[in-house]
Amino acid sequence: MFPFHLMGGPDIRAVVERSRPQLVDRVRETYLAHHRGETVNPNSYFLRFPEKPNARIIALPAFLRGDPGVAGIKWIASFPDNITRNVPRASAVLVLNDFATGYPFACLEAAQISAARTAASAVLAAERIHGSRTADRVAVIGAGIIARTVLEFLASLRWSIGRVAVHDAVPGYARRYAEHAGSLGYPASVADTPTDAVTGADIVLLATTATEPYLLDVGILAAGQTVLNISLRDLGPDVVAAAYNVVDDVDHCLTAGTSVHLAEQKFGHRDFIDATLAQLLLDEETPGRDKPRVFSPFGLGVLDLAVGLEVLAAGRRAGRVTAVPEFFGEVERW
Ligand SMILES: NC(=O)c1ccc[n+]([C@@H]2O[C@H](COP(=O)([O-])OP(=O)(O)OC[C@H]3O[C@@H](n4cnc5c(N)ncnc54)[C@H](O)[C@@H]3O)[C@@H](O)[C@H]2O)c1
Repeated sequence: MFPFHLMGGPDIRAVVERSRPQLVDRVRETYLAHHRGETVNPNSYFLRFPEKPNARIIALPAFLRGDPGVAGIKWIASFPDNITRNVPRASAVLVLNDFATGYPFACLEAAQISAARTAASAVLAAERIHGSRTADRVAVIGAGIIARTVLEFLASLRWSIGRVAVHDAVPGYARRYAEHAGSLGYPASVADTPTDAVTGADIVLLATTATEPYLLDVGILAAGQTVLNISLRDLGPDVVAAAYNVVDDVDHCLTAGTSVHLAEQKFGHRDFIDATLAQLLLDEETPGRDKPRVFSPFGLGVLDLAVGLEVLAAGRRAGRVTAVPEFFGEVERW
């Protein structure tokens, strides 16, 4: 009566690899559900450590209404220094709770879920803002797991890309990324500086682990460029204020020292926020080409729930989910 299931990383990877377009659809539906008020998505809670100022573990509780509704929480650690040991920065679990009883019914390895929902929202925004699935040049700054996942999602949607220019603070990571892009059918080259990468790009993907803005000159971005500001803290406040800004959720995104939050603090207002992604998806707003167009997704817990549910269902069909019988100690009240 109270089944509990586990799904590990290799099984989730296998499911994600063959369901990327469906996950993008699921993320689109979830943004629209959030827009309609069919979600409860409290602020993320950041556990920080004075001894490790760049590390954090974030709790993202959420509830997605539906039939049946599902609640849950992603608990995701971000330890950027892991990179020096060749260990991924992010590690996570996602717990899903049944809305009828509140009982947890599944625990999923969630670094893969999180990367997939982040990449799905990036490609969704890229297509809507850029206006097609064809780009002459894509710039990537920060050649890590998130940037790799975004490229894999673009490839799964058969984007046509003339060239990828990739810059990373560590040139070896940029070279490896360029090779991976090549293996996906995208010619790629390493750019020595962010400016070299960004100049002439239709689409710019920011996926670094920078904690302070370093792209400060308003001239760094060009009118009409589509900027996927996934890492959220690369752009200076003046660059943000000079752009057309799209966010996933206004209140969420204007927190935690993101570039849009810094812009709000500097200018004392949030008038530079033009639209949410849901408004764009509904054609209620259309970004002009007279300014750079910057998409800043804070990352919503409801997306993790939606993608987690989808992956769990596919995992069950494929026999990739492990049941844990009698997980709970007491399921009948004495
Ligand atoms: N907005 C969201 O919903 C969301 C979701 C998931 C991850 N993220 C963010 O995405 C970012 C990337 O995550 P990841 O897992 O790929 O990390 P990662 O450690 O695998 O990769 C980050 C890369 O950025 C490079 N880098 C760091 N600072 C740089 C700089 N100033 N200039 C150029 N390169 C730089 C590093 O060398 C590394 O190769 C993180 O900041 C993470 O918080 C955002």
